[in-house]
Amino acid sequence: MSDLTLQQDLQGLKSLKNERNAAIDAASTRPLPKTFPVNELASKLHPESQFLKIKQVIEHSADERSFVLEPDTEKGTQHLAYFRAGQYISFRLKIGNSYVTRPYAIRSAPADALKDQYIITIKRVKNGFVTSFIFDNWAVGTPIEASAPAGNLYFEPLRDQKNIVGLAGGSGITPFYSLASAIADGTEHVNLTILYGSRQHDHILLAPEFSKILSKTNDVKLINVLSDDDIDGFEHGFITAELIQKYAPKTPYSIFICGPEAMYEFMDKEVKKLNLPAGRIRHELSGNYGSPYHETDYPADSRDKVYQLTVKTRDHEQIISAQSNESILVAMERAGITAPSLCRSGECGVCRSRLISGKVFSPEIIDGRRVADSEYGYIHTCASFPISDVAIEVPVHDLADQFG
Ligand code: FES
Repeated sequence: MSDLTLQQDLQGLKSLKNERNAAIDAASTRPLPKTFPVNELASKLHPESQFLKIKQVIEHSADERSFVLEPDTEKGTQHLAYFRAGQYISFRLKIGNSYVTRPYAIRSAPADALKDQYIITIKRVKNGFVTSFIFDNWAVGTPIEASAPAGNLYFEPLRDQKNIVGLAGGSGITPFYSLASAIADGTEHVNLTILYGSRQHDHILLAPEFSKILSKTNDVKLINVLSDDDIDGFEHGFITAELIQKYAPKTPYSIFICGPEAMYEFMDKEVKKLNLPAGRIRHELSGNYGSPYHETDYPADSRDKVYQLTVKTRDHEQIISAQSNESILVAMERAGITAPSLCRSGECGVCRSRLISGKVFSPEIIDGRRVADSEYGYIHTCASFPISDVAIEVPVHDLADQFG
């Protein structure tokens, strides 16, 4: 480098310093913002918790109630998170000494969330631990904590066909009610054909409410399928592959399935007979998976056993008992451990934990783990049943945080 070039470079460096100081002096003295609009929007759409209050209770029958929910502003929730029709929120409840979660589909339309209102409809399960608590304790004004909306049972134009065939059983009708409402109010632009299975005519949920929606749009069709009653104007029997083909559009369609375990397993097998291309079927189990004993690959010698379950977190270890017919998640909840969970049916991965030792049985129908997780010893506690003494590591520092 010549002396002249070196001098020019040094001169440039000096003026650069002067320019920088001038720019600093001219800059605004206003402090940098502590939050950014994009982060504020993200926390509105995906809050860690929503604090809600019951605004109204609607009694459909002795065993069926709708709860209208609004934000509990005093506890810090000013507005409800928006959602996609078909999604659920998971309630966080303390019942006795147990901390439990329960997902329930939001059955109101997404547009109602913009008016700070969700509606959920719950059917009381005979001897049900959680539904009995809800029916006995929830009244106008009751405060409730819930997750942000979650779940994949919604229409996504990049993924799904514009014709959707919804297969519903029992209270699994509620996500389709939300989608039908969103079609009627112009939020969603799809054609929806619902085949809704109930045992008897009296068991059909939300019948008058559905009639109102059907009177507003031609893009929603509802076919009630009764297994026990044979009544004119209703299909009789089960939701079989033949029945689906009878009502499904002749153009390509996607199938969404939501129902209780027994019906879900039946419909799942029938849908496979249709040989639809991969990616055309979405499903969600409505409620908890029950006992795994009926699965053909369940190891018979593990039935009716009580195993030792060691639960480790980063700085805590607890040994509890776990029954072979209840999931590891349920065993932890019964023991008062506030284990993380959301969907409770193997899909979301929130309960993902490391299996340190022992063996678990994961029914195929709810085993939503990634292949790598199965190979490297991770389990979904909601979809894993102990078949030996088991030790797991739950990946949260303070499990009580989940319940605030
Ligand atoms: S809670 Fe969703 S996978 Fe277990």
